[in-house]
Amino acid sequence: MGSLLVDDIGELVTNVAGTGDGGPLGLRRDAAVLIEDGRVAWVGPARYAPAADRRIDAQGGAVLPGFVDSHAHLVFAGDRAAEFAARMAGEPYTGGGIRTTVGATRAASDGQLRATVRRLVGEAMRQGTTTIETKSGYGLTVADEARSLRIAAEVTGETTFLGAHVVPAEYAGRPDDYVGLVCGPMLAAAAPYARWVDVFCERGAFDADHARAILTVGQAAGLGVRLHANQLGPGPGVQLGVELGAASVDHCTHLSDADVDALAGSPTVATLLPGAEFSTRSPYPDARRLLDAGVTVALATDCNPGSSYTSSMPFCVALGVREMRMTPAEAVWAATAGGARALRRDDVGVLRPGARADLIVLDAPSHLHLAYRPGVPLIRQVLHNGVPQCRS
Ligand code: NIG
Ligand code: FE
Repeated sequence: MGSLLVDDIGELVTNVAGTGDGGPLGLRRDAAVLIEDGRVAWVGPARYAPAADRRIDAQGGAVLPGFVDSHAHLVFAGDRAAEFAARMAGEPYTGGGIRTTVGATRAASDGQLRATVRRLVGEAMRQGTTTIETKSGYGLTVADEARSLRIAAEVTGETTFLGAHVVPAEYAGRPDDYVGLVCGPMLAAAAPYARWVDVFCERGAFDADHARAILTVGQAAGLGVRLHANQLGPGPGVQLGVELGAASVDHCTHLSDADVDALAGSPTVATLLPGAEFSTRSPYPDARRLLDAGVTVALATDCNPGSSYTSSMPFCVALGVREMRMTPAEAVWAATAGGARALRRDDVGVLRPGARADLIVLDAPSHLHLAYRPGVPLIRQVLHNGVPQCRS
């Protein structure tokens, strides 16, 4: 493969706290990055850059770690554009549309599901995402959950078993029976393809007892815990996640002081998904309150056909800044290093020797432009494992 030097960098975001400008983004000027064997080999002042076989000229653009999208639902069929239009005309979002997607997903072929996953991963990559998590949760039978994860595992190691998304129609009125299926044969079939287990812990989906049962057996099967919590209303999800040592609790839109205190005293990340509030016209989570309390915050897309059909991390960064009172630096950190923390990864979301050479070159001189120029395709180049992916 040979070595590759990225230089003429206008601003380098390393996320190595305390280096460069001394802030959390570890901003460096006049820096260069050397890549060898898919890893970052060296970061330093351009004038001291080692010789390399090839060179990428960033042309004064900012260079950042690739985005780490730690929450998406990419394995599905069908679309719910009409449901979106109805919401924009005043209908509330209830999560009831999940069953529509379950029907379409069960009816789809493996090839159709695979094509959708690959299309969305490609779409995300062109917008700077170099690590993406994806969940099952639209199959809700043993076979459909296992195949969803098998297809997801073809494109990412960050796969999450979400058999407990909703109780499917054939188990209506029998949630205990469905939880038994999830904890038994469904988990057994899904676990070989999954790194994580997740539950939609919410009124109308799964209560705390069900969530605890599913997450505990998932943990015993070797999966890490994450969960959908406090999205549509207050509830027990966040504190349950902290108690179980979840890597992340996701949504966090309706939080009590006790929820915030529990998060602040824990290693659990609060992953905020502002695309969902945008697309359901709902109040945004209070990122400022979490950050001021010392909670680690991540931003992710929640890409799914119902509540947030965006694959764009730059869009989420812009929403974080404009709608959730994050500083641009906090939002960029949350979309890169924060996502990595939410996935318990230390090899992505950071540019230091040894890290994966996942980085993006902006058509703009600084990270500020990601929020300052919303909706503009600023990702000029993406390197994944040191390999250039695309030029837009
Ligand atoms: O994260 N909240 C649960 N699941 C998804 C929405 C799924 C859907 O509406 O299809 C979410 O928002
Ligand atoms: Fe989600």
